[in-house]
Amino acid sequence: MSDWVRVCATAELLPGESTVVWDGDTPILVVNLEGEFHALEDRCSHEDFELSAGIVDGDQIECTLHGARFDLRSGEALCAPAYTPVRKFPVKVEDDVVYTRDDR
Ligand code: FES
Repeated sequence: MSDWVRVCATAELLPGESTVVWDGDTPILVVNLEGEFHALEDRCSHEDFELSAGIVDGDQIECTLHGARFDLRSGEALCAPAYTPVRKFPVKVEDDVVYTRDDR
């Protein structure tokens, strides 16, 4: 299991904002949803496209390539053409710093 990866200070990721960090070869999309941080693999489950290029809409993100939508809290696929969830990763906040990691 890999170590935690520093994302940013909590003050650098405000509600509604998102950023991408890498844990090894894994791109991780981290979003602040009303003060709660969530991390998902930055890879659409439809065709391996960067989800971070998409549009955050409330607690969902829409992939720009073909319009699949995912729940940012769970990674669940909400509409076609994606049917499988996006991998969700753990997040922790320690001393006002956000961390995540690929825990596979
Ligand atoms: S690659 Fe995301 S919807 Fe097709």
